[in-house]
Amino acid sequence: MKIFSELETLAAFSSASGPGVTRIVFSQPDMEARTWFKLLCLGAGLEVREDAVGNTFATWRGSEPHLARVGTGSHIDAIPHSGKYDGTVGVLGGLEAIRTLQASGFRPRRSIELLLFTSEEPTRFGIGCLGSRLLAGALDTAAADRFEDTEGKPLSKIREQAGFSGTLDSVKLPAGYYHGFLELHIEQGPLLERDGIQLGIVTNIAAPSSFRLTIEGEGGHAGAVLMPQRRDAFLAAAEIALAVESAARATGAIDTVATSGVCEVFPGVINGIPSRVKLEFDIRDTDPQRRDTVVQALEAACDRMRQKRGTAIQIHTLNSDAPATCDFALIDVLKRAAENEGCSHSSMVSRAYHDSLFMSRIAPVSMLFIPCKAGVSHRPDEYASPQDIANGVRVLSDALSQLSQ
Ligand code: HGY
Ligand code: MN
Ligand code: MN
Repeated sequence: MKIFSELETLAAFSSASGPGVTRIVFSQPDMEARTWFKLLCLGAGLEVREDAVGNTFATWRGSEPHLARVGTGSHIDAIPHSGKYDGTVGVLGGLEAIRTLQASGFRPRRSIELLLFTSEEPTRFGIGCLGSRLLAGALDTAAADRFEDTEGKPLSKIREQAGFSGTLDSVKLPAGYYHGFLELHIEQGPLLERDGIQLGIVTNIAAPSSFRLTIEGEGGHAGAVLMPQRRDAFLAAAEIALAVESAARATGAIDTVATSGVCEVFPGVINGIPSRVKLEFDIRDTDPQRRDTVVQALEAACDRMRQKRGTAIQIHTLNSDAPATCDFALIDVLKRAAENEGCSHSSMVSRAYHDSLFMSRIAPVSMLFIPCKAGVSHRPDEYASPQDIANGVRVLSDALSQLSQ
């Protein structure tokens, strides 16, 4: 299998020096990686096209191309200082699965289409799964084109400069375009490795939501302003973050998670009282109602801080999405494929979100997880073994052949 060396090559397209991978959507490393990937697909005899937001489709035309296609794929954008396998195993693994079928002499009846989704990570535009949301028609396209990146540049400009023309309205796929969609991905959790199981077959994908808070207090001299007079924006942020954490722990369900991964303090100097804080939360659960009890706790904590610390607080919802239930027929296909390949497997929930979360709105989906070492992901030491990757590719290949014949 060429995938092992290809994963190493892809990892080198990074703007990070050092062990991790940084590949922000539409950055130079991302664009170079896309060009390299398209050449690989052309080398495999696939037809390649890109849509107006850079979602890339590499199609192995079937003998009956008018039939609904079988899709597979994932993403290659990577958050700063992260790993080599998140997303890339699904993109290069999909290509390897197609090459495996080609080498076996298999001829698909339904076309098999490999996707590279644009901007699965929220790093640049603050919202995850931008490309698959647009494919699913799950975003207002005019608003999406106005999404600004971390430097205030709108998506419309950035995608045009990256060479992707056309309106975002043209991205949405017609109903029935895919007969089924399968995504191969690392588990990004410890369960498969802990239980010694070779593959996970995903039955549900957790419901993600994320929020950006702007907290305004009053700055001042760290020595001159006495404690009773202070309206410290950072201390308000700290109380809110702790309230959200305890609400997530209090639901009684292990599936409820909340993270505050962004906290920018202004003016950010040791002897200046914080006057403004940008604080972001990522709150998820397999049960959206239970997730929303944590969101309500966030809102209540903001109200308390408005009173107690005299801070003005704005809450901006970046996304609040429903969970996905995977398709039973596709789950069975994956189970059969795993058995055909002699791999142990178990059904599981995906706590990470994926492009399949939005593809599930326009097609039957399921996901195939391979173990990752100690469950680590979004870190330079993220690791999937060649054996586990090969298992995932072989089973995906078998499943694609079942679905496309
Ligand atoms: O955050 C996630 O779940 C995904 O890895 N972007
Ligand atoms: Mn990720
Ligand atoms: Mn991913």
